[in-house]
Amino acid sequence: MRKIGVLTSGGDAPGMNAAIRAVVRCASCEDIDVYGIECGYSGMLDGSIFRIDNRFVSDTIQKGGTILRTARCPEFLQKEFRQKAFENISAYGIEGLVVIGGDGSFKGMRDFSREFNVPCMGIPGTIDNDLAYTDFTLGFDTAVNTVLGAVNNIRDTMTSHNRVCIIEVMGRKCGDIAVYAGVAGGAEVILIPEIPYNIEDVIKTIKYDRIKGKQSVIIILAEGVCSCGDLKEELMNKLDGIQVRTVKLGYIQRGGTPSMADRVFASRCGARAVELLKKGDSGCRVIGTKDNKIIDMDVDEALAIPSTFDKELYRIATMLAK
Ligand code: ADP
Ligand code: F6P
Repeated sequence: MRKIGVLTSGGDAPGMNAAIRAVVRCASCEDIDVYGIECGYSGMLDGSIFRIDNRFVSDTIQKGGTILRTARCPEFLQKEFRQKAFENISAYGIEGLVVIGGDGSFKGMRDFSREFNVPCMGIPGTIDNDLAYTDFTLGFDTAVNTVLGAVNNIRDTMTSHNRVCIIEVMGRKCGDIAVYAGVAGGAEVILIPEIPYNIEDVIKTIKYDRIKGKQSVIIILAEGVCSCGDLKEELMNKLDGIQVRTVKLGYIQRGGTPSMADRVFASRCGARAVELLKKGDSGCRVIGTKDNKIIDMDVDEALAIPSTFDKELYRIATMLAK
C-alpha cells in the first residue's frame, strides 16, 4: 500500500489530532503517502482531499478538536453517495483509509469497505466511551478530567451556600462519563441511563445528607436520562426549601487539551492502524484497548458486542457517597 487517507468523523474528541499525527508519521516511516480528508465523509463526497506530511501535524499533539475538522454526513448512509466517495478517493490513488470516530462512523466505514473492497481501520474517537469492544475510547479520559475540574469548582460554591447542584454531562445513551466523574469527584448521586432511578430515592438521599451534616449535594446526571432542568423541576416541589442549582457542562467537556492517557492511546492506535494497512489485505478492522494492551478486531465482530456497563464501579460509587 502506497497511499492512504485519514479522516475524523462524528463528534470531535480530544486526542484525535494525536491519532492523525501518529498515522502520518508512522506511515512516513513506511514510505506511505497520507492524504487528509476534511470534514469526515463529507470531504470524501466533495473531494476535500489533500496531501499531508510530517510538518502538517507538527505542534498538534496537545490540541483538542480536530485539525481535519469533522462533520455528520447523512448522505453517506446511501450507496450512491458512497460510490461517489470511492471515485473521489480513487482519483488520488488512495488504497486504504483510517477513520477516527464513533460507532456511526464505524458503520459507514464498514459499508464502504465492504462495497468497494477498500481496507479501512477504525480508531475509536468519541468522549462517550460507548463502544463495547474497547475498554476506553479516545477522548473519554480527557472529558472526564474536564468534568472533574468543573465538579471541584462547583463543589466549593455549593458548600459555601449549602446547596444541591445537578451537573448534566454528555455521553448520549452511555453513562460512563457520569459514573467515572461521579466516583472521582465524590458525587452524592449519579443518574445514568443504564439504571432506572426513582425520584423519591433521590429526595431521601438529599434530605438524609443534610441530617448527616453534608453541606452540599452534587448530582451528576447523564444527558441520556433527562435534562438538568427537568430533574430540577421534579425535585423542587418536594425539597422543602432546599436550594437546587443546575449546570449543563455541554461542549466544555468535548474540547480542550488531551490528557497524557489520550495522547498515548492515540499514538498507539495510529501506529497499529498503519501497521495493519501496510499488509494490504487486512479488511475492515477497529482498534482499541483491552487490559491495557492495544487490540484490533473485525469491525462486524466489534459492533456486534452488546454494550456493557460497569455495575461494580457504580456499586462502589454508591458506597462512597455515604
Ligand atoms: P459517531 O461516529 O461519533 O457515532 P455519528 O453517529 O453522527 O457519529 O456518525 C458519523 C457519520 O457516520 C454520520 O454522519 C454518517 O455519515 C456515518 N454513519 C452513521 N451511521 C451510519 C450507518 N448506519 N451507515 C452508514 N454510515 C453511517
Ligand atoms: O458523541 C459525542 C457527543 O458529544 C455526545 O456526548 C453528545 O450527545 C453529542 O456528541 C452532541 O452532538 P452535537 O454536537 O452534534 O450536538
